[in-house]
Amino acid sequence: MSFTRRQVLAGLTGLTVAGLSVGGVRYWLNRPLVAAEYDYQLIAAPLDLELVPGHLTPAWGFGGQAPGMEIRAKQGEWLRVRLVNHLEESTTIHWHGIRLPLEMDGVPYVSQLPVLPGEYFDYQFKAPDAGSFWYHPHLFSSEQLGHGLVGPLIVEEREDSGFRHERTLSLKTWHVDEQGAFTAFSVPREAARGGTPGRLSTINGVHVPTLDLPAGQVVRLRLINIDNTITYRINLPGAEARIYALDGNPITPRSLGPEYRLGAGMRLDLALRVPPAGRELSLRNGSQRLATLRSQAEQPVQELGDWPSALPANPVAEPDLATAQTLSFNFEWVGALSSNLKSGAAHSFWQINGEAWDITDKGCADRPIARLKLGQSYIFELRNMAQYPHPIHLHGMTFKVLASDRKSIIPYFTDTYLLGKNERARIALVADNPGVWMFHCHVIDHMETGLMAAIEVS
Ligand code: C2O
Ligand code: CU
Ligand code: CU
Repeated sequence: MSFTRRQVLAGLTGLTVAGLSVGGVRYWLNRPLVAAEYDYQLIAAPLDLELVPGHLTPAWGFGGQAPGMEIRAKQGEWLRVRLVNHLEESTTIHWHGIRLPLEMDGVPYVSQLPVLPGEYFDYQFKAPDAGSFWYHPHLFSSEQLGHGLVGPLIVEEREDSGFRHERTLSLKTWHVDEQGAFTAFSVPREAARGGTPGRLSTINGVHVPTLDLPAGQVVRLRLINIDNTITYRINLPGAEARIYALDGNPITPRSLGPEYRLGAGMRLDLALRVPPAGRELSLRNGSQRLATLRSQAEQPVQELGDWPSALPANPVAEPDLATAQTLSFNFEWVGALSSNLKSGAAHSFWQINGEAWDITDKGCADRPIARLKLGQSYIFELRNMAQYPHPIHLHGMTFKVLASDRKSIIPYFTDTYLLGKNERARIALVADNPGVWMFHCHVIDHMETGLMAAIEVS
């Protein structure tokens, strides 16, 4: 992969950014839009947050917020974001779930060089698909995502979606103690199991918030799992809720049912019929309350909202199963805690088809685990050989989930599939985006200890 001189130079030219320091609280002002150079300027910088009342957490944010500011784009139109790095380490942004050209994918040494402290990088792409997506760096991931460098990206439908109300709910369980101090983002013993969980659940940065919703209306709730580790068991007891999209891709609306397992990186678009004024619902993870949803009388009173029809399908190519070639991917657990650790090397607990990704080796992507022919359809047989679920994610292309040996599947398109313990599943795709694409588990601990690979399409 080569990088043009211009790209490197662009990042070196000086940039002045308004920074403020007030009473120990550091934050960076977002410049209002200047000229027509970009739609958003996202400054990655330290940011003190009050996650635990009375205590400050030294978080990192995008655009003066953690989780980062919500970015909105229109389906099929350009989105231009300038990332400005005011951290003390390199970073990038990956646009999770967006089918875009490789140079915009944010993977260091594959898509671009890391953006050094003080530099900036201009991302620009057209988002072909509408839906709920998110963004995050793709290096030093457990630290950077753990510190709060994660944010929602909403791509609005080209046509009217039929929803008159919506809320974005970004779910993150922070690795902080009772005083708001960070605890370890990654503990080897946990990385070798289900991943290191945080302890403070939040929605949009607030622990068990109360969210007011318009009584009697149908509200689109965009749940985005921006957490490093946790699979949320989403339920809304007593609510009338329907699923409209999974991971940004519309489905035929169906009832939420007793619970939906939302793995790290995954999204769930629900339509909720808000009950009459004065009632409350509890949005939960299993039996744990994540938020209180309170219905508020609308002034002036509006007529009752109706369930919108299904969202328009995204323009994803339909894989041709008759001509598809089948490839197998085994996700396996390997090895003891210390045995395979050379000095300076990352821990390695996980492998895909016998290969462990090494995040300290810049050359890993030069050895793709599979080479796909541009335009050809493929079936991937995914096999989880371990006791822990893996939300398996692919960059660059959207795939169709066909079948599982654990549950009945109504085929649907997605970018992340939660592969349960010992599950086998079949997914299919058209290799229609040339490049070298990361294929990994989105439990950050797993991805950083081997469970990542590159797939080349050419
Ligand atoms: Cu959210 Cu490599 O991805
Ligand atoms: Cu991704
Ligand atoms: Cu995993």
